Amino acid sequence: MTAPVLEVKNLEKYFDTNTGWFENKPPVKAVDGISLTVDEGETLALIGESGSGKSTVAETIINIHEATGGLIRYQGEDITNPLKEQLETIRSDIQLVFQDPTSCLNPRRTIEKSLRVPLKATGVAKDKRNQRVQEMLERVGLTDEYLYKYPHELSGGQKQRVNIARALAVEPRLLLLDEPTSALDVSVQAKIIDLLRDLQEELDLTYLFITHDLSVVRNFADETAVMYLGEIQEKGPTEEIFQSPKHPYTRALLSSIPVTSDSDEEYRPDSEPLRGEVPSPREAPSGCRLHPRCPHATEECSMQHPDTQQVDDVEVQCIAYKEESEGFESLLTATNDTSTESQ
Ligand SMILES: Nc1ncnc2c1ncn2[C@@H]1O[C@H](COP(=O)(O)OP(=O)(O)O)[C@@H](O)[C@H]1O
Ligand SMILES: [Mg+2]
Repeated sequence: MTAPVLEVKNLEKYFDTNTGWFENKPPVKAVDGISLTVDEGETLALIGESGSGKSTVAETIINIHEATGGLIRYQGEDITNPLKEQLETIRSDIQLVFQDPTSCLNPRRTIEKSLRVPLKATGVAKDKRNQRVQEMLERVGLTDEYLYKYPHELSGGQKQRVNIARALAVEPRLLLLDEPTSALDVSVQAKIIDLLRDLQEELDLTYLFITHDLSVVRNFADETAVMYLGEIQEKGPTEEIFQSPKHPYTRALLSSIPVTSDSDEEYRPDSEPLRGEVPSPREAPSGCRLHPRCPHATEECSMQHPDTQQVDDVEVQCIAYKEESEGFESLLTATNDTSTESQ
């Protein structure tokens, strides 16, 4: 059996933001012990509200940040603290596509030049570069007429196509897509998703797809991991997560997907909304990190950190979820009853 393309074990990224010896602020625990696996040619969606730590996961995988704990393996090889030659492999095999298509393109470079730079950097022969630039542009659905344009002459969707072409220039195996459509108009988002899907099939790419837009996840991702305040709360096959979400956080996220068609109704779970806002990961709540916002929280949830339970193919990190008590339907009633009594 071949090793997964990406394997992350108990990954931690704590940011120390103290600027002098006199400061003693606790670290920002942006990523706090997460584990993920992505097999070849598959897509894992990493979802969760803003501030959950999703971008930090991707940036730590690609070594923009140094991991403060845990393990990252690429095709079975430990790349957590990469050696020089491993860094070269990471830089060509793993590519990160950012949310904002504008900030990644040099405004003073034509598209042709922007696409040529990574080819030069990875040693593609000079006489092959022209052809490769044209191929890459074509691959992302843009014609030759864009070659000598500047970024400001392109729409957001076109710029994101150029960014995807640039990422593909070095023939990567794994794309870390960090909210690749969030900055685009809704009509353009679907086209970029279609493009990513086609490219995955043509080039047998593996994706870590970060998003807080859940409406695309169900049809796009094989597996889904739900992240909150640096931890994974629920993880498993996308279909199972959407059909019967178990964690109160997942339930709340899924219940807030805007209704766009009748079929969407099918998988919208009943859920009470979460209370309040996401706290700072510098002062993450004790026990279960969700407990101050969770409609199902018990006293135990505020004191004890939840273990991960395996329910069929899904891992769920919640104390209040009990499979034998049919999840939360019964619990929901119980919680409501007590709250009415105490009022
Ligand atoms: N370089 C940094 N220094 C300090 N804190 C950071 C840094 N980068 C991210 N954070 C913090 O880490 C948390 C997670 O951020 P991020 O990974 O961007 O979340 P997401 O992508 O899910 O919105 C946030 O609270 C953010 O403020
Ligand atoms: Mg982010």
